[in-house]
Amino acid sequence: MNLSKASAAQERLIELRKQLNEHAHNYYVLDNPTIADSEYDQLFAELLELEELHPELVSDDSPSRRIGGPPLDKFEQVAHRVPMLSLENAFDEADIYEFEKRLVRYLNTTTPPHYVAEPKLDGLAVELIYQNGKLTQALTRGDGRIGENVTAQVQTIGAIPLKLRREVPELLEVRGEVFMDKEGFQNLNKQRQEGGEQLFANPRNAAAGSLRQLNPQITAKRPLRFFAYGVSATDSINCQGQSSLLEYLQNCGLPVNEMTRKCSNVQEVIEAYDYFVEVRHQLAFDIDGMVVKVDDFSLQERLGFKARAPRWAVACKFPSTQATTKLNGITYQVGRTGAITPVALLDPVNVGGAMVARATLHNQEEMERKDLRIGDTVLIQRAGDVIPEVIKPIIEKRTGKEDIVVPPTDCPVCGHSLRKAEGETVIRCPNPLCEAQKLRGLIHFTSKAGLDIEGLGKRNIEQLFEKQLISDIPDIFSLDSSQLAGLEGWGEKSANKAVDAIQAKKSPQLAELLAALGIRFIGEVTAGMLEQRFASLSALAAAQKEDLLEIDGIGSRTAESLVTYFGDPRTREILGRLEEQGVSPARSAPDSTGTLSGMRILFTGGLEKLSRSEAKKLVKENGGEIATSVSAKLTHIVVGEKPGSKLEQARKLGKAIINEKEFLELLDQRHTA
Ligand code: IVH
Repeated sequence: MNLSKASAAQERLIELRKQLNEHAHNYYVLDNPTIADSEYDQLFAELLELEELHPELVSDDSPSRRIGGPPLDKFEQVAHRVPMLSLENAFDEADIYEFEKRLVRYLNTTTPPHYVAEPKLDGLAVELIYQNGKLTQALTRGDGRIGENVTAQVQTIGAIPLKLRREVPELLEVRGEVFMDKEGFQNLNKQRQEGGEQLFANPRNAAAGSLRQLNPQITAKRPLRFFAYGVSATDSINCQGQSSLLEYLQNCGLPVNEMTRKCSNVQEVIEAYDYFVEVRHQLAFDIDGMVVKVDDFSLQERLGFKARAPRWAVACKFPSTQATTKLNGITYQVGRTGAITPVALLDPVNVGGAMVARATLHNQEEMERKDLRIGDTVLIQRAGDVIPEVIKPIIEKRTGKEDIVVPPTDCPVCGHSLRKAEGETVIRCPNPLCEAQKLRGLIHFTSKAGLDIEGLGKRNIEQLFEKQLISDIPDIFSLDSSQLAGLEGWGEKSANKAVDAIQAKKSPQLAELLAALGIRFIGEVTAGMLEQRFASLSALAAAQKEDLLEIDGIGSRTAESLVTYFGDPRTREILGRLEEQGVSPARSAPDSTGTLSGMRILFTGGLEKLSRSEAKKLVKENGGEIATSVSAKLTHIVVGEKPGSKLEQARKLGKAIINEKEFLELLDQRHTA
């Protein structure tokens, strides 16, 4: 090896690491990037290239760790140097006053302490071990004494610095919460739904499932975040209390929650609590309470610990979003694909401020697993905006008079006998002419997930269906405004507007139309892949299973679903009638001479000059392809205002990141070149 070459490489690597770490901090922690994303990507690519040439120079704090190392066989168990304790709970104001009373009594003082009130993140606790300022190990809390080694996974979380930004003691163990914000959670579940994967029940489970994932490359693709809230030993650093510790951690380059409040007395603590209760549903992430800590470390030390929790802190839980009530019966809903969803009919009950009389039981198998009986007292839960669900029966409250639930054998709407396919958890009505399926299909077709026809929301479609003005998809395109204007809730203006909106959607993109048709397993992403491959609807309709399987990302289940759909005479009838109505997908064949040919571009966040559809049109007109998810094939991501989690995923994969201006320049430059 040429020595001078190696040392030049080393020097450049050190510089690149420094710069990349600095930019990651600006981006993730300060939320204030100072270079264009494309410049960051160039630096990252250079780093990867140099490290590939000089594997001996790869260091633990190299940003290349963000991509995720090789999969592990199992998680190593590691004891915490200092146990990770839990907190005692307070459930209301009275409990918070009681907490202060105990403190004052214990400290034998007349002056109550100052506090710090922090949002209690609903994720999972981790410990980050920094040795000489470098992240050397990360552990889950585990049972508090022994945790799991999740170093390779934690290294992929952009917000967690691999190297601290200021002088720290030789050993610093930082504690905090890894979590997923609501947007990241929703996007992840959407992707999983389209891929036919099981959904995560809530952001907490999604965060835990993503971190406790043996393959760190999967963790790298999940939008995990982190807030630091403590250290294992406060005596090793020069801080007076919790509020100065949080500042110290922030100066180290660690993200801390900005909503944290300093409180000079218990009244201010209560105010903070009321504030958090009020705003919790508007926050970007789930919080399940507030943690109050005595600020002063010398007082914390005097107060010390009980068996499992410190005396100097308490978790103030929010008013419950769970409640118990009586299960009066079960009704069955028929979904768009015929899936039968059992719905619990309940004695109305107030759950976290809203009255709940119905709750989902997800599917038959889930219901059987829970062994619910009519007449049971059940525990129900409402979380954020999601549909309330039944958690479990309270067995202790059984009287013996409860009735066993007999699963339905026939469709509650059309009477067709129900079926359960092998390996599936749901039972289905196999009759595609079932009125319930038709109605759901129509609602889907005009919804945002479908053609997004303005003025034809769920209620309108229900009304038109009930009045027998529409019974299947082609009927939508023959609606005229005089039919609508006479209906309850409609006027001439809204009728005209709706009809205009319908007519305007007569030339959808092929992918849009495919996703709207409601074919099983075909969501936005898969529809996009099909559009890239097939020039027209008829070409797709004629495709064999083998042709479909050739497409990267399409499995046999999806391929079979497409073949069945297009082989069905009813599909041919529907598509024929759509064509008669003048509905035909607009799709230009990929233009290999276009300025964007060979590029696969994804948009995230709001654009300033262009609408999303204009931007997509420009890409297509110029021979580029639109991506709807981050994958290896993506070449560029265009980032607008408030980008989603895709940005982070793209960054981790080292994709070119550009803004709207750069996107327009790209079009221009290529034109003039
Ligand atoms: S302090 C000894 N602060 O709540 C003090 N915990 O039972 C230990 N949590 O699993 C924790 N946000 O993961 C603390 N701002 C915060 C927190 C917080 C969330 C979690 C933590 C732990 C549980 C405490």
